[in-house]
Amino acid sequence: MSSNSLFDSKRDFWENQHQKKDTYWLTGSSAQNVLRYHGNPPISGIILDIGIGMARFMKDISKTHTIMGVDISPEAVKRGSQYGDCFLVDQLSSVPPVDWAFCHLVFQHCSDEIVQKIIDEVPLKPGGIFSFQFAYINPGETPTDFLKTVLAQGQHYLRDETRMNEILTKTSKRIVKVANRVSFHHPENLSWSIYQVTNR
Ligand SMILES: C[S@@+](CC[C@H](N)C(=O)[O-])C[C@H]1O[C@@H](n2cnc3c(N)ncnc32)[C@H](O)[C@@H]1O
Repeated sequence: MSSNSLFDSKRDFWENQHQKKDTYWLTGSSAQNVLRYHGNPPISGIILDIGIGMARFMKDISKTHTIMGVDISPEAVKRGSQYGDCFLVDQLSSVPPVDWAFCHLVFQHCSDEIVQKIIDEVPLKPGGIFSFQFAYINPGETPTDFLKTVLAQGQHYLRDETRMNEILTKTSKRIVKVANRVSFHHPENLSWSIYQVTNR
């Protein structure tokens, strides 16, 4: 499978949500919320948002920082371009290196192959950090009916820290720390981990 076809299989689904501005799928996390979940890191320099959704983070942070965005959807790229340079994910490897990249509520919609490719290609300056969230069900917990439904739709992918650690070994990045762990019990009964990684 070529690298482009990896993304092509999901592009129509996301483009459709962006055309409809469907807020269940696109979320619209504020910069304040994203930074809180990612452990309130001291961000400076150039920031890269991977999977920009409604571009709310880009809009908020563009008032004080230089922000760039990446998404699978051309409509999202158009929306984000109001606030900073934006690229399709196929172009990730040619995005200029950044100081802080992040990915929030995206990997739970991506196959292992896509997650590996994105982590591998995120362009970091020396010392730069890539912070990403991923989701799983804790051992002993049961998926809610809501989660069973969205999993059955084939647009959710859950992976725990053991699996994420295996994926990381195949990339150009190494873990710096687990920035946060969060558990939710409504509506999806999911837990999140937020990893900070850097160049090997
Ligand atoms: C659930 S939304 C989250 C948006 C935003 N990060 C937030 O927290 O509000 C997922 C976003 O990731 C994008 N996306 C999905 N798969 C992607 C991929 N493989 N590469 C880049 N973006 C992707 C979607 O188009 C959508 O904008």
